[in-house]
Amino acid sequence: MEIVIAHDYEEMSKISAGLIAAQIRKKHDSVLGLATGDTPSGTYKELVRLHKEEGLDFSKIKSFNLDEYIGLAPLHPNSYNYFMQENLFKHINTVPANEFVPQGNTDDPEEFCAWYEQKILEAGGIDLQVLGIGRNGHIAFNEPGSSLASRTRVKALAQKTIEDNSRFFESIDQVPRFVITMGVGTILDARKILLVANGKKKAEACAKFIEGPVTSQVTASALQLHPFVTVVLDEEAASALQRKEYYNWIRDHKQLVQKKIGR
Ligand code: GLP
Repeated sequence: MEIVIAHDYEEMSKISAGLIAAQIRKKHDSVLGLATGDTPSGTYKELVRLHKEEGLDFSKIKSFNLDEYIGLAPLHPNSYNYFMQENLFKHINTVPANEFVPQGNTDDPEEFCAWYEQKILEAGGIDLQVLGIGRNGHIAFNEPGSSLASRTRVKALAQKTIEDNSRFFESIDQVPRFVITMGVGTILDARKILLVANGKKKAEACAKFIEGPVTSQVTASALQLHPFVTVVLDEEAASALQRKEYYNWIRDHKQLVQKKIGR
């Protein structure tokens, strides 16, 4: 796991957008896994800038979003479909038929989940999966206790997540209790993973998943089992890490590290 500690949110967003852009430039028809939330919105803003000012081309990209609330139609302003349209898709040149976001108002969520997994397979699998992290250490909506082998499925939200996400709704009662989410196993199948996190409120979850044991109680810790994970944190999110000096040394000696160990 490569840990990159940025000074602030802006730098975190630039670094993570740079990594996504490098993936797209290397493989024009990359399959991206995308996340929603306050954390990646700065990254998406920078991707939009790279598209508008530097011609970053998304026309051959396919994307699969991590999750969606059950019961919200794609045009609902609190849906993740809507978030993706507003924060990314409508500003770049992705092809709508290639933008996959779980459908919250499907009649048959279970069948939908199987179809979604199938679509990811047909696309050739995810090349680069972007992730944020919940305060309880979840990735996508894989709440504590989720199987680390889980696939796309319906989950019930944990109380902490309902409280955290209520800031986007008029009242806490309006937060849907059920969601469709890619599983931890689905995420681990991606060829590369990029997790972004910022702010003091994520410090504890980051310390647990990076430096604690692999446990289904902190589903992000499953990323320790993946060979190509980059974590980009701001200083606040990194503040509870024990081995900060080591991560910073690697970051500052990147060329030497690449020469010696090839990463
Ligand atoms: C939700 C999403 C996660 C996201 C998390 C953190 O629970 N399902 O994918 O990582 O929120 O969101 P934020 O970036 O707004 O803190």
